[in-house]
Amino acid sequence: MGETKLSVNGKSLRVNAPAEESLLSVLRNRLDLTGTKYGCGEGQCGACTVLMNGRATRSCLTPVSAAVGAKIVTIEGLEQDGKLSPVQEAFVEEGAFQCGYCTAGMIMSATSLLNETHDPSEEQIVAGMDGNVCRCGTYPRIVQAVRLASR
Ligand code: FES
Repeated sequence: MGETKLSVNGKSLRVNAPAEESLLSVLRNRLDLTGTKYGCGEGQCGACTVLMNGRATRSCLTPVSAAVGAKIVTIEGLEQDGKLSPVQEAFVEEGAFQCGYCTAGMIMSATSLLNETHDPSEEQIVAGMDGNVCRCGTYPRIVQAVRLASR
C-alpha cells in the first residue's frame, strides 16, 4: 500500500491504495465518486468509462498506478459552474436512458468521441459508442443525443 497522487476532476488528490487496485475501485471506494459504475469488471460493458487525458478509458481494467500523471475526469467532473456539459444536456433532452446504469459511461464515451471527431456521422457515432452496452436498449436515443451534442 503506497500513496498515489492523482489528478481527478481538476483536483490533485492523494490516495493510499495498492498499485494494482483498479482505478474504478479507487474512484468509487476511496474517493466516493460513485457516478462511475461497475458493470462487468472485464472491459466488456463500458459502465466504468472515464476520461484519461480526454480519451475514454475503462477504469475497471486500469490499475491506479497507470493513472498517475494523467488528467482523469469522471461524470462528476463534467459539470462546470453548476451547468451540465453539452453531452449531459443532450442526454437529458433526448431522454437517452431508461434505468440509467450505463448513462455515466455512455456520456464519458460520447464526450471522448466528440473530443476526437467533430460533427461525427451516424456511422461514426455507432462505431464510437460500440463498446458501451445499454441493457434497456435505448441506443436510438443515445445516438440522437450524441448528434444533438455535436451541433
Ligand atoms: Fe469496466 Fe464493464 S465494468 S467495462
